[in-house]
Amino acid sequence: MKTQAPANPAEIADLLRGEAYLADPGLATVLSVALTLGKPLLLEGQAGVGKTECAKTLASVLSTRLIRLQCYEGIDVAHALYDWNYARQMLYIRAIEAEEASSAAAVGDVFGPDFIVRRPLLEAIDHEDESPPVLLIDEIDRADDEFEAFLLELLSDFQVTIPEIGTIRARRRPVVILTSNRTRELHDALRRRCLYHWIDYPSLERELEIVRARLPESHEKLAAQAAAFVASLREENLVKPPGISETLDWVQALCALDQEELSVDVVEPTLGVVLKVEEDVTSVRDDQLEQRVAMARDTSAPRS
Ligand SMILES: Nc1ncnc2c1ncn2[C@@H]1O[C@H](COP(=O)(O)OP(=O)(O)O)[C@@H](O)[C@H]1O
Ligand SMILES: [Mg+2]
Repeated sequence: MKTQAPANPAEIADLLRGEAYLADPGLATVLSVALTLGKPLLLEGQAGVGKTECAKTLASVLSTRLIRLQCYEGIDVAHALYDWNYARQMLYIRAIEAEEASSAAAVGDVFGPDFIVRRPLLEAIDHEDESPPVLLIDEIDRADDEFEAFLLELLSDFQVTIPEIGTIRARRRPVVILTSNRTRELHDALRRRCLYHWIDYPSLERELEIVRARLPESHEKLAAQAAAFVASLREENLVKPPGISETLDWVQALCALDQEELSVDVVEPTLGVVLKVEEDVTSVRDDQLEQRVAMARDTSAPRS
């Protein structure tokens, strides 16, 4: 983006589209508001609807750095904020001992800035970048409550305290995007700190647009039929409903197999590109696959 001023929703949508990311108007609006107010944005939705990609593409269109913190069960401050470089501390202490000039002050240095390993949250708070980085806190629902509580503090003050060093405050707040696949509910307190947007599966038309944007070489008819087939799968009660990435992978696979249209013969052996759980593959394969393929073929490609 050329100017520092936050873009309006239409501008943001255009910029993202330029990078082959298609945001619906609701998402473009909440991104615009988040940039204007400098508030963290919580994006929630099923796996594969474009939450992570949204943050990545936003960093790219803002021409700024993406700092990503991937959350997981058991993640703690040492992995997310900072840790001490123990090896370096040991070497330093040995060097002092070798000089036989050990002093309390010199040993105390090992808890100074030179011996810190900066993890993503510290990088994002203590940055020197001209335009603030985008901090992606990905899949926060995987982290446990304790970590969520710690984030809460960080997201309200944009400052962190390292006991041995002091308090570090962000000179310019990073653009913060949190994502959740909703494998568990997040606390109200965290939600209150953030703007919120639920990313739904795209409409058939939008998904087809995404396929066109990402795979411009693919056959229009094949893409439309594959998107319709995937959309029909999302109506079923599957263990892992397919996301947009599965649609894209499938269209790519079918193109590689020289297909121009869906047929049972090629759908059946490629179901594993779209469905990633054995029960889902079996239930779709055994439950009126022919009709499902026929229905997808009947769905005519919508006009763009
Ligand atoms: N709105 C979109 N426009 C373009 N591509 C998209 C969009 N949403 C998802 N995708 C594609 O789907 C893939 C999976 O999206 P991702 O962001 O990883 O999903 P999530 O983080 O929600 O699980 C992306 O790599 C991208 O190729
Ligand atoms: Mg993701």
